[in-house]
Amino acid sequence: MAIKFGRPIELRDAPKRRTALASPPLDLTIRPRRNRKAEWARRLVRENVLTTDDLIWPLFVVNGHNVRTPVASMPGVDRLSVDQAVRDAERAAKLNIPCIALFPYTEPSLRDEQGSEALNPDNLVCQSVRAIKKEFPDIGVLCDVALDPFTSHGHDGLIEDGKILNDETVAVLVKQALVQAEAGCDIIAPSDMMDGRVGAIREALDAEGFGDVQIMAYAAKYASAFYGPFRDAIGSAKTLTGDKRTYQMDSANSDEALREVELDIAEGADMVMVKPGMPYLDIVRRVKDTFAMPTFVYQVSGEYAMIAGAARNGWIDGERAMMESLVGFKRAGADGILTYFAPQAAEKLRERE
Ligand code: PBG
Repeated sequence: MAIKFGRPIELRDAPKRRTALASPPLDLTIRPRRNRKAEWARRLVRENVLTTDDLIWPLFVVNGHNVRTPVASMPGVDRLSVDQAVRDAERAAKLNIPCIALFPYTEPSLRDEQGSEALNPDNLVCQSVRAIKKEFPDIGVLCDVALDPFTSHGHDGLIEDGKILNDETVAVLVKQALVQAEAGCDIIAPSDMMDGRVGAIREALDAEGFGDVQIMAYAAKYASAFYGPFRDAIGSAKTLTGDKRTYQMDSANSDEALREVELDIAEGADMVMVKPGMPYLDIVRRVKDTFAMPTFVYQVSGEYAMIAGAARNGWIDGERAMMESLVGFKRAGADGILTYFAPQAAEKLRERE
């Protein structure tokens, strides 16, 4: 008598049942599994590929020299002093990663209500852009435009009576973009979600002789819990008062994302972005299908932390989960991905060559 879970099964009952092994082959001419029979066959029918050309690598910069401080909530990610950011830019260049993105950890003493440090032509971001461009002029450098790394309250804009001011903030963002363009930045990426900022920045860039500087708009950016580790990294987690729901999008909305993207394109965005990534793949697909624009997706800090953290604990195969998540973005229609996994993924892709 075979003991199964629950009711014991008498062996002599067996012939009456059709076990899988005993049943004859089904009469099927179409068998999708045929195309999956071997790796060479799977490669032949593969619909989407990830290449290093798809990657943008975000870096965190901090004061000092020869500094690499780990970000606790992002295992494997460090805050880098400018000289070390240059070394990572070199790594990116060697790995053939086309572009890096820069985010500063601003000293608390330099943060104020207005985020004035954003307009300092010698702030950490500008220093990094100059140092990286000097050694590696051929790598693309993207700079975020928003005030949160610089404000004492951690918001992306100016506040009055607890309200984030739109038009006043846009005026400051325009100046921030110009300061970064002056430093040599290639792509300006407004992440603040103020209305009208893309048009205002475009106009100012053109007027000041930066007609070649591109704009990648964080067009559909959601108010998300997945930004938590990033706020640790730039030191705004503790200072942030309230949340960002009056300017970042409600995660329940999808049509609204199309309206946001449409406006940014009309205002002159060269590329658009959806952020976060994994919980918003449907948005990536809709945006790509609707506008056929260069469409980017940001696999944000919390997504990185989930994969890297689980991998570190041995709960998932980190490398496979990384590659699966990245090709998922390609499948959803993304032309490129901002991801903290960029160097690991590029190394993995190189192994395959
Ligand atoms: C700043 C900005 C944020 C991110 C990129 N730019 C955080 C936020 O909006 O609070 C998040 C990136 C990440 O989580 O990796 N406006």
